[in-house]
Amino acid sequence: MKIGILTSGGDCPGLNAVIRGAVLKGIAIKGHEFVGFRDGWRGVVQGDVMDIPRTMVRGIAKQGGTILGTSRTNPFENGGGPDVIKDNLDRLGIDAIIAIGGEGTLAAAKRLTDAGLKIVGVPKTVDNDLDATDYSFGFDTAVHIATEAIDRLRTTGESHHRCMIAEVMGRHVGWIALHAGMAAGAHAILIPEQKVSIEQVAQWVKEAHARGRAPLVVVAEGFVPEHMDSPHSERGLDTFGRPRMGGIADQLAPELEARTGIETRTTILGHVQRGGVPTAYDRVLATRLGMAAVHSVAEGRWGTMVGLKGTDIEQVDFQEALGKLKVVPQRRYDEAAVLFG
Ligand code: F6P
Repeated sequence: MKIGILTSGGDCPGLNAVIRGAVLKGIAIKGHEFVGFRDGWRGVVQGDVMDIPRTMVRGIAKQGGTILGTSRTNPFENGGGPDVIKDNLDRLGIDAIIAIGGEGTLAAAKRLTDAGLKIVGVPKTVDNDLDATDYSFGFDTAVHIATEAIDRLRTTGESHHRCMIAEVMGRHVGWIALHAGMAAGAHAILIPEQKVSIEQVAQWVKEAHARGRAPLVVVAEGFVPEHMDSPHSERGLDTFGRPRMGGIADQLAPELEARTGIETRTTILGHVQRGGVPTAYDRVLATRLGMAAVHSVAEGRWGTMVGLKGTDIEQVDFQEALGKLKVVPQRRYDEAAVLFG
């Protein structure tokens, strides 16, 4: 079989490990041939492909980014759609697609599978917000990067007796904030799932300060304070019409300073969390998912994605995988909140 692989949506440490896992297993065990679509669905719509011989995936499990490039192209727009894509696949002799991407990518893959295309998915989200997989690769790396950065903010905060606010990724869910905040010993963790008043955050900051600590607040980009209706976003929309996030930390800082009298500084970690080498955990998970995706292709399990359940990799229907966010449960937030202030 000739299999086309694409990486779509925001990038994520571990994408190359998925590609390597799929290609090595596909070539070694099944005798498949692989091509990569350049820049996600754009390459599929435009028939822009590159060969992926075994030599190309040598040593790439530890490389950040994606060797195929990515984009937030919608395959139903920009001259795309199932008929165009079918023609491209026939012309290029490609039998099946492995689509590595998040919610938007998998939703598009489902529509294309419903139209008769042969696609299996691999979930990718640094935010760890897909319900159909216990963990997604890239999340562990993002948490490590954020924790290391927050540890550094703590020492400079302590030198100056300042309050430090670290903003991390997390559009709809606060997993990165929860894990990095707990690991770094934050005095407040603010996540999209929990509305909290500025007065409450100021109270936690004052309590920590009163004990001689430099207060440390970790906030997810999608956090909505009690007095706001929607997440802070002043940078317009992305190509999928989603608000571009970032900047809630800068909104909180003057509010907290005014209420506490403590000099406050902000750091927005942004895309640093998605860059660089994946952790060993993410490399292993990504490799296993890539290998499992090839197995799904061999079995003709079109319209399914591979996901982690406990320690096993399982197949889940797109239908079941989509539309369900894995939010931070109340009990997990309450457990962390015992240590706030
Ligand atoms: O969806 C993952 C994510 O990293 C979000 O946390 C963030 O809001 C978004 O992607 C950023 O997207 P972009 O790379 O397009 O700026």
